[in-house]
Amino acid sequence: MKKVTIGVLVSLWMGACLGMTLNNDGDPRDSQLDVHLNPHQVLGYDNCEKCHAAEVSVWKQTPHHETFLTLHRQPAAKQIASKLGIQSFKTDSACIKCHYTMQADQQHGLQAISGISCESCHGAAKNWVELHNDYGGNGATRESESAAHRLERLRSSIAAGMRNPINVYLVAQSCYRCHTVPDERLVNVGGHKAGSMDFEIVSWSQGSIRHNFVRTNGKTNDASDRNRLRQLFMAGMIAELEFSLRSTATATEKAAYGINSAKRASRSAKRLAAAQKKLNQPLLDNILAVYKSVQLKLNNRQQLTEAADSVAALGVRFAATVPGSELEAIDPYIPAQDKWK
Ligand code: HEC
Ligand code: HEC
Ligand code: HEC
Ligand code: HEC
Repeated sequence: MKKVTIGVLVSLWMGACLGMTLNNDGDPRDSQLDVHLNPHQVLGYDNCEKCHAAEVSVWKQTPHHETFLTLHRQPAAKQIASKLGIQSFKTDSACIKCHYTMQADQQHGLQAISGISCESCHGAAKNWVELHNDYGGNGATRESESAAHRLERLRSSIAAGMRNPINVYLVAQSCYRCHTVPDERLVNVGGHKAGSMDFEIVSWSQGSIRHNFVRTNGKTNDASDRNRLRQLFMAGMIAELEFSLRSTATATEKAAYGINSAKRASRSAKRLAAAQKKLNQPLLDNILAVYKSVQLKLNNRQQLTEAADSVAALGVRFAATVPGSELEAIDPYIPAQDKWK
């Protein structure tokens, strides 16, 4: 029962406050470097390994890790690079934003230290790593931690930039930020795939990339339970709308990128509308109303970005306040285990 109370507290707090930290992954240097993570705040996976060795060994078997070793050797990648005039994969920002983790340090400057790693999904860790595992100092354990302390720990980790999976929308956003491939030149000039059109968060997160060890104190790596799968599924659908609005916002010419982005936005809104017929959740009405208020056209950056920001805030609140038990009606849509990647 204790657990439930904490869950509700966290939900309430997050629903009220999270919007503020959403687009604030780091400092303004982010946009100059054109990367998702502030390389000055990246610690690197080896820093996580001393406490999360099991997670690291799972990750090492995934394409997210592998891309560091293989991308620059692939003919398809070389072709894209030559069309874009790229000399070096690991120093050119047109690829690093999604294929690598960059770190800045005083000795080496800015360099790619791995493929897509822990912090690509959970946020650059410098400011939160000391907060997220602090049960209250001096001998305090997970079991002895008070509910209020846990709440404060989760709150402060998120405020310091952690994409903490306690709120599934925060991690869903990480996936879609890369898997929608929001880069017009990369797609239209480079010929890169215009996003993973078949991306679906349950089937893409519960298979080979799954690393749910913490919840069982390292004993097993189980898939999330039914209620959480429902929340994940909805978070994925909402994040798909958010990020396809964002990519449509940066479309300037009628070509593969703009067409795909707009199609994806319209497809995700249709799916959400179909889910809403079964679920009847007020926040989904709000999200669909945001979508209806915009035009999916070229050179409409400001309107579409503002709409995406609104969807983001609603997505965080949905994940924080709607328990899986209210989402049973979407079960038939959630991919079954034999579809998990
Ligand atoms: C000194 C040990 C330690 C280090 C280093 C560490 N973690 Fe953790 N981490 C923990 C513990 C303990 C928990 C379980 C916290 C709990 O009970 O909620 C945890 C939980 C998490 C969670 C689950 C969310 C949560 O708050 O429970 C994520 C995600 C995570 N860590 C990511 C990372 C990443 C990424 C790194 C490296 C940048 C890292 N951790 C480094 C000890 C550590
Ligand atoms: C905005 C994010 C993003 C950027 C930037 C990006 N990629 Fe990708 N790339 C992806 C995603 C996501 C996939 C996986 C697509 C899928 O399989 O659904 C991918 C897949 C690929 C693949 C296919 C890999 C395979 O094994 O099938 C190649 C080749 C590739 N990218 C090359 C490049 C090159 C070269 C650059 C830099 C010029 C680049 N990418 C920049 C997101 C990106
Ligand atoms: C591709 C994105 C991605 C990467 C890379 C990633 N994670 Fe996660 N992580 C997630 C998602 C999504 C969840 C929630 C999964 C769920 O609830 O089923 C999660 C959950 C966790 C949890 C909580 C597990 C639990 O039992 O509740 C920890 C701890 C964690 N990650 C640590 C790490 C560490 C350490 C790394 C690097 C080795 C890492 N993650 C890499 C996406 C990622
Ligand atoms: C920093 C960018 C980035 C983030 C964040 C990210 N991915 Fe990926 N993902 C990629 C790229 C790039 C590839 C393709 C790598 C390659 O093949 O070279 C990929 C590949 C994958 C694959 C393998 C696809 C296949 O067909 O085998 C899965 C599964 C996957 N991602 C799931 C996820 C999930 C789930 C999340 C969020 C929890 C996520 N990714 C977050 C960039 C990212």
